[in-house]
Amino acid sequence: MQRVFSGIQPSGIPTLGNYLGALRNWVKLQDDHECIWCVVDLHAITVWQEPEALRRQSLEMTAVLLACGVDPKRHILFLQSAVRAHAQLAWMFNCVARLGWLNRMTQFKDKAGKDRENASSGLYVYPNLMAADIHAYHATRVPVGDDQRQHLELANDIAQKFNHDYGVEFFPAIEPLIMGPAARVMSLRDGTKKMSKSDPSDQSRINLNDDSDTIALKVRRAKTDPLPLPADVSELADRPEARNLVGIFAALAETDHAAVLKDYGGQGFGTFKTALADLLVERLSPIAAETRRLLDDEAALLQVLASGAERAEAIANPIVREAERLVGF
Ligand code: ADP
Ligand code: NA
Repeated sequence: MQRVFSGIQPSGIPTLGNYLGALRNWVKLQDDHECIWCVVDLHAITVWQEPEALRRQSLEMTAVLLACGVDPKRHILFLQSAVRAHAQLAWMFNCVARLGWLNRMTQFKDKAGKDRENASSGLYVYPNLMAADIHAYHATRVPVGDDQRQHLELANDIAQKFNHDYGVEFFPAIEPLIMGPAARVMSLRDGTKKMSKSDPSDQSRINLNDDSDTIALKVRRAKTDPLPLPADVSELADRPEARNLVGIFAALAETDHAAVLKDYGGQGFGTFKTALADLLVERLSPIAAETRRLLDDEAALLQVLASGAERAEAIANPIVREAERLVGF
């Protein structure tokens, strides 16, 4: 069985983008893979987090993952900071990755914004930590949204250089699993920006805990162009907002863009947006309800994380110890 690793930052309430680009695929993979799911709080502090908020958000994220269908009995679910191996291997990778490689990472440029001099150095080396997250388990499959493609290429470059420098085939190649018609969900306010839980505008995203009225309002207000929906997929190419909404519908309905346009092509956005809002409410409200139920028992959530951390360490510690030995420690 292939070993899968993936993580999500506890930097806010997860969005529809996280769900369609990542979480929903995580649940599907559990049937025929050995899965390691991580709430990556070390990544979250690359930008400022209030300590109490971070603790709360880590528990909320754990509850959301369980509510989406992550199975902590057959698989592993844990908090990144509880397993020291991540930071230990990340340091070695800081010394393997080249500055030139990091300089090419577009997410750093997006997240650091204009005030680059004031970004944390952690934000800059974030991809090295992400590489360590995966390689500490010798995982070979990584389900992520399309925004993470570049970071996974870097993780492969790091593994190759480590193997080459130390003359061993120690870290395996990893294959990104970028799945579905909504592998990159865009902001509802700007079709050229990805939907993100750290976007300052709440109107730009659907949060997994939004109630039905909020979802309907956000979809109604979502930016569109004045044309009706096209009959053909090729005509979506230069209409990012229309393309995004059709992709979201397709992903939720387990179909593709063409099938959605077969039903809605030629019509204005009004009917389509109502149908999209209904579909979103149908799929997301059970997750929100289950999340609230799970958050009522904090001790049970902490127990899930403690057991997950113990099982994660049993895999990662020997691998990272061996990497240390190869390096000369
Ligand atoms: P965010 O950018 O919302 O803070 P994370 O960095 O925690 O999200 O990413 C968690 C997972 O969600 C990753 O696999 C990432 O690729 C995926 N993801 C994040 N935003 C989107 C999006 N807009 N569309 C598709 N997948 C996304
Ligand atoms: Na991200």
